[in-house]
Amino acid sequence: MTPDSLLPRHKSDAQHARDMCLAGRWMYERGFIVACEGNLSVRLGDGRILTTPTCMNKGMLSPEDLVMTDLEGRQVAGDRKVSSELAMHLLFYRMRPDVNAVCHAHPPTATGFAVAGRALNKALLPEVIVGLGQIPLVQYATPGTPELSAALEPFVPHYDALLLANHGAVTCGADLLTAFFRMETIEHSAKITLAAELAGEPVLLSGREVAKLMAARPRYFVSPPPGGGAELPMTSEGGESAEDRVTLTRDELDALIDEAVRKDRSRR
Ligand code: 13P
Repeated sequence: MTPDSLLPRHKSDAQHARDMCLAGRWMYERGFIVACEGNLSVRLGDGRILTTPTCMNKGMLSPEDLVMTDLEGRQVAGDRKVSSELAMHLLFYRMRPDVNAVCHAHPPTATGFAVAGRALNKALLPEVIVGLGQIPLVQYATPGTPELSAALEPFVPHYDALLLANHGAVTCGADLLTAFFRMETIEHSAKITLAAELAGEPVLLSGREVAKLMAARPRYFVSPPPGGGAELPMTSEGGESAEDRVTLTRDELDALIDEAVRKDRSRR
């Protein structure tokens, strides 16, 4: 099988299944996952999602190992148990009609940043700025729980690649190859950032240079996520970084406001 087989075009379910096994092998061979880590999924027609099974090595899968569910997560085909991270994948499919593939892995350098509580949010590399804008860090939540989906939800409309604190990374794309390439870009960007920090002080690009790169996106056939409103990376002019910002769900914001009102009343 060649990488061409992963290029977007109309494909049968069987071809999608073969592509997923191939992408799993690439993730394993590149060291983005070890043992039973990571998971992949693809949106098939008719609201069906093809997903990797839980607790298996994703570099050694056969098409028969894959599991099919509907958008509510009900298993409709396959003998294996579905990935424990299915809810995270379904969140992307529900919130992003443009997304047809999701890739989750633990690439070691990028995961090192996520474990250190650091986003990849600095304006350092043109390709990353054009392709992804920046790669924010999503706060920690237990893998496979609704809390992780809740932490991800505010980011999903605005970003195609995310770091998960103390966990790993997740990417999405219009097709599996794009989602996989974004995972490669995350790890490559983390490696270069680390090398720059070891070599000296990384030099950030200016806001003007970032604006030029953003304007060049159509030339590279990059369409930003439909949610828009993503944070631009931190530039040489400094200012507030994405790490300084706090993202809250509506419920968390309401709870904070209620608490402030309660405290204010009790003081009177
Ligand atoms: P699954 O094997 O259940 O997909 O989980 C792997 C993983 O990486 C969890 O974060």
